[in-house]
Amino acid sequence: MPGVGLNNVVKAYGSTVIIPDLSLDIRESEFVVIVGPSGCGKSTTLRMVAGLESVSAGTIHIRDRDVTYAAPKARDIAMVFQSYALYPHMDVAGNMSFALRLAGTPRAEIDQRVKRAAEMLELTDYLDRKPKDLSGGQRQRVAMGRSIVRDAYVFLFDEPLSNLDAKLRSTMRTELAILHKKLDRTMIYVTHDQIEAMTMADRIVIMDQGIIQQVGSPRDVYTAPKNRFVAGFIGSPSMNFLDGELHGSGSKLEVHGQGFKIPVSKRMQITANAAKDRRVTLGMRPEHFAATANKDGKYAALNLDVDVAEYIGSSQFLAASLGGQPITATVDVGPDAEPMGSGQYFFDTNRMYLFDRASGEAL
Ligand SMILES: Nc1ncnc2c1ncn2[C@@H]1O[C@H](COP(=O)(O)OP(=O)(O)O)[C@@H](O)[C@H]1O
Ligand SMILES: [Mg+2]
Repeated sequence: MPGVGLNNVVKAYGSTVIIPDLSLDIRESEFVVIVGPSGCGKSTTLRMVAGLESVSAGTIHIRDRDVTYAAPKARDIAMVFQSYALYPHMDVAGNMSFALRLAGTPRAEIDQRVKRAAEMLELTDYLDRKPKDLSGGQRQRVAMGRSIVRDAYVFLFDEPLSNLDAKLRSTMRTELAILHKKLDRTMIYVTHDQIEAMTMADRIVIMDQGIIQQVGSPRDVYTAPKNRFVAGFIGSPSMNFLDGELHGSGSKLEVHGQGFKIPVSKRMQITANAAKDRRVTLGMRPEHFAATANKDGKYAALNLDVDVAEYIGSSQFLAASLGGQPITATVDVGPDAEPMGSGQYFFDTNRMYLFDRASGEAL
């Protein structure tokens, strides 16, 4: 199969297993983002694809070829790292063409490739500048240009935007997504930032402790997280989790916990009724709370003790508690509303999540 395949890949340093058993198929031209907390094994995985790190077991395929033991330069890959060193004495064109010149690529072809990459990255006007005369974002684009001119089969990115400020990161996210469309190449992008993953990926791979937790489109992982880890990792602010117990049965099923009794939504009833151990974790995203009841009546009224209400434009962010357990909520109240206080709020029960409390798996 074309694309990139990792098949039962294991990575251990001595007796310390970093990646116990990882399999992943990436389609040709796909933009896959591997996301997870620091130390979960993202860079190690990417470096094994690149050939910069050996595998302890398993195989890696790139475009129908087993490259498990191939040298990095025989893999048809290009890599962009978080910290990129440009040659300070070379101008932008010189930096971008360096690898091609080393490889003895004909002059005319080098010029053409640099021109095309510079156009894509909007660096045409800067080709004769030295790195010191560029902004951080422009330098980052030169680093990308350096890999793009080589036109590899797979582009590998390891947190390339981490050193940029928030505004530039957001611009570069958009540019990278556009670049992916223009280049139409397979891209594997590693980050700890779920916003980067959500905004750029065709598919997101969520990793924790060397283990893939879920693979899916941004919509899949947000709307149908497979477990509590994914539910808490994707979405900002994070999902609220409350201990609860299932009471009743059939269509009269409810989750009871400290300070709340919430009817189980119709969507969840079948799986929730099948839950043997009735101890669950209730998941509620902050954005599914409201200050007023919704029209279709699918809501639970909850009494929140609001500690702080932060004004964030058209909505307010509430740091609150429910029956003594902390809850965050964002409620749309319009730009002119007074800071919201303690009292009754409404949670959209169609958007509730239930997890087995012991295993963390979604019901
Ligand atoms: N050379 C090494 N020897 C021992 N452990 C390592 C080595 N390189 C990385 N690790 C460990 O492997 C784990 C995964 O690291 P890494 O892939 O860099 O994580 P991430 O990129 O997700 O932050 C970490 O716990 C790290 O300490
Ligand atoms: Mg890393």
